[in-house]
Amino acid sequence: MNFNQLLNLSYEWRKQYGLFENTETLRIFYDPDTIAIDLFQNHAWITQWGNLKANILPDSVAFLRELAPWGKQLDSIVLMDRSTVASEKEVQTLWGTPPETKFSVHENGIPYLIELNKGKHPGLFLDHEPLRNWLKNSQKNKRVLNLFSYTGSLSVAAGKGGADHVTTLDLSKSTIEWADANWKNAELDSTKARFIYGDVFEWLPKFIKKNEQYDTILCDPPSFSRSKNGVFSTNKDSQRLHELILPLLNKNGVLVTSINSENYPESSFLRDIHQAAEKTGAYLQVLKRIDLPEGFATSTRNLGERYLKGFHLVRIK
Ligand SMILES: C[S@@+](CC[C@H](N)C(=O)[O-])C[C@H]1O[C@@H](n2cnc3c(N)ncnc32)[C@H](O)[C@@H]1O
Repeated sequence: MNFNQLLNLSYEWRKQYGLFENTETLRIFYDPDTIAIDLFQNHAWITQWGNLKANILPDSVAFLRELAPWGKQLDSIVLMDRSTVASEKEVQTLWGTPPETKFSVHENGIPYLIELNKGKHPGLFLDHEPLRNWLKNSQKNKRVLNLFSYTGSLSVAAGKGGADHVTTLDLSKSTIEWADANWKNAELDSTKARFIYGDVFEWLPKFIKKNEQYDTILCDPPSFSRSKNGVFSTNKDSQRLHELILPLLNKNGVLVTSINSENYPESSFLRDIHQAAEKTGAYLQVLKRIDLPEGFATSTRNLGERYLKGFHLVRIK
């Protein structure tokens, strides 16, 4: 079977999950040894993970140029080559012309601003679609805190779900501006939102000091980051992070905490959360696990490929 046929079969199988009314995003292929292909409306974003056999990119372009996922053929195909640190600095256009500025794509009827011609990522992580969908259906009258927000897609979903107020916090200035633009683009009320450019480890103690309380806290850190306050890594700092989060969570409030890391096992993650709860006098119960969306099939070789781990936890005490 050639690569083109493999993509075709993958597409045929996945489209039953993703291509439905009100949604213009779809992951059509994922293989950690080669590439991932995501559709954003009539544009394709290819992520390359390693050195590829010569035919793989030309086959992918040929396959994508035949597609008309929403009744219209694709306008552009871009590549983010993550095989080396140098190559992932810039996105390359493989075909067509990607829009020059940010534009809206809909997922479950909600618009999100994405950008294809610069940056390392379009700005919408498709693997968090189930979490956005949960927020859209569960946040009526809730006070929400979105930590490590990136472009604020989880905040927008919570806002559309009727949240009373959403605080959005990220260490990157351009990203928090994007989150603010995302909120406005979704026609949400600016008086119900606060956008903070800053370090979680600097702001959480301030929130605790002011006795802030939230019904929903979202925590989705990177596996590693550096700020002027030092280096953060999930393996080392998860317990400390959760010790700062739990005092802010209301009784009956829900913490959704996740990590995207292959080398931090789920059992260690849960142990760190449990210890943080013991230390802060909170009593948490697991409501459910976070997992990849239904259409995100992964290999049978290694469960680690289901890289997204996390929990919905309710605070009983
Ligand atoms: C994995 S992304 C979060 C994705 C986001 N939850 C979403 O669904 O789109 C991690 C984000 O954490 C931010 N970040 C890293 N270290 C931080 C820190 N110490 N304080 C606040 N934000 C931080 C990064 O700038 C990045 O936007």
